[in-house]
Amino acid sequence: MPLHIIVGAQWGDEGKGRITDLLAAEAAVVARYSGGDNAGHTVTVEGSAGPQIFKLHLLPSGLIHSHVVGVLGHGMVINPRRLLDEIEQLRALGVPVSPERLKISAAAHLLTPGHVALDRAEEAARAAGHAEGKLGTTGRGIGPAYTDKTARRGLRAENLLDPERLGDRVAEHVRQVNQTLERLYGAPGLDPAQVAADYTDYARRLAPYLTETSLYLHERLRHNAAVLAEGAQGTLLDLDLGTYPFVTSSSPTSAGAFVGLGVGPQWAGRIVGVTKVFQTRVGAGPFPTETFGLEAERLRGTGANPWDEFGTTTGRPRRCGWLDLVLLRYAVRVNGLTELVLTKMDVLSGLDEVRLCTAYAANGAQHAELPLGPADLAPFQPVYETMPGWREDLSGARTLADLPAAARHYVRRIEELTGVPVSLISVGPERSQIVRAE
Ligand code: IMP
Repeated sequence: MPLHIIVGAQWGDEGKGRITDLLAAEAAVVARYSGGDNAGHTVTVEGSAGPQIFKLHLLPSGLIHSHVVGVLGHGMVINPRRLLDEIEQLRALGVPVSPERLKISAAAHLLTPGHVALDRAEEAARAAGHAEGKLGTTGRGIGPAYTDKTARRGLRAENLLDPERLGDRVAEHVRQVNQTLERLYGAPGLDPAQVAADYTDYARRLAPYLTETSLYLHERLRHNAAVLAEGAQGTLLDLDLGTYPFVTSSSPTSAGAFVGLGVGPQWAGRIVGVTKVFQTRVGAGPFPTETFGLEAERLRGTGANPWDEFGTTTGRPRRCGWLDLVLLRYAVRVNGLTELVLTKMDVLSGLDEVRLCTAYAANGAQHAELPLGPADLAPFQPVYETMPGWREDLSGARTLADLPAAARHYVRRIEELTGVPVSLISVGPERSQIVRAE
């Protein structure tokens, strides 16, 4: 059985958790390979008291299925406090989490309150003077944790096996962070002894989950188990391939799955790109198809529903706009996508017209592809293909034939303009509200 990879094809928040949840029903293992608790996956858990909406930040969303084993791969940066909280919350909902069901890579990195404090101080410093200087990070310490990793002074999860020594290393790390906080940013330092004591405690509780996850995944693949690699964030937030510097510090694209899980590319199976049928972005940075006013409010929702366009991790309203096929084609190319999953199709119902950005215009020229990649999108104006909208409520649709002709035409144009087939279309927040397009 191959390794199927699910990636976000936009700036994150495409609804990957929902699709992972669906595909995990047929998988034995679901593995996260990059990022940390900057991710936010909303999943619905069928509890004894009815369906409950649960927001996961670190645990793979496939873990909701009792037959699935979850893996936190070594491309991740893990905040142990949050991980323990999530494990407890799942248990409280009757979802068992044990070392048999959850494996943490010994090579993943540990994220500390020092990283969180640095992230916030760095953002405040960038914003000082001019607000556009901010990257708009989630404030979860992600950038500083990956900085420590690449500077080769990070704290790897393997340190959890020796709680006392980890405590010493954490205390030293906090003392160093304090120097930067206090001297460079004039921000208050943290208490090294307190943080060290906390990490000694986390180590005792998390050590049983440590695993050589590359070996584990390889053995499972060799024995024909279906493994799903669950991407976090999205293609345009990739450190190398995204809209730099408005990116995260990891590799959420499909190649990141091989590095972040320690699995070779010969195992690759389906590479599924999840995209909304419109475009959203949280955080700063240019956004060519961004819309404002009523149109944006229509796409965003009011925030009354958990699936409205407000950040799962930060609660920030997301910036909204029309689907950008220049960027989607780029995502198809750099991930090697074999199929697309479209989400939130129901949201477009009721609009007189719907639009697709098919190319960019700049300095009198048109570009179907980005001349220098997606780093600087500011110079580009979107070129739209506008088509009639539809009024019908799509929430009951389950096959392509159930969709109105205008909606089918919209899906077909996305396939034609990206060259990739659409396999699934979500038409509502419930598990069952999916159109199978194959
Ligand atoms: P960081 O990952 O917290 O450093 O944030 C860097 C950029 O990535 C910011 O623009 C964030 O808003 C964005 N970002 C990080 N994680 C997510 C996510 O899960 N969904 C959407 N945007 C994200």
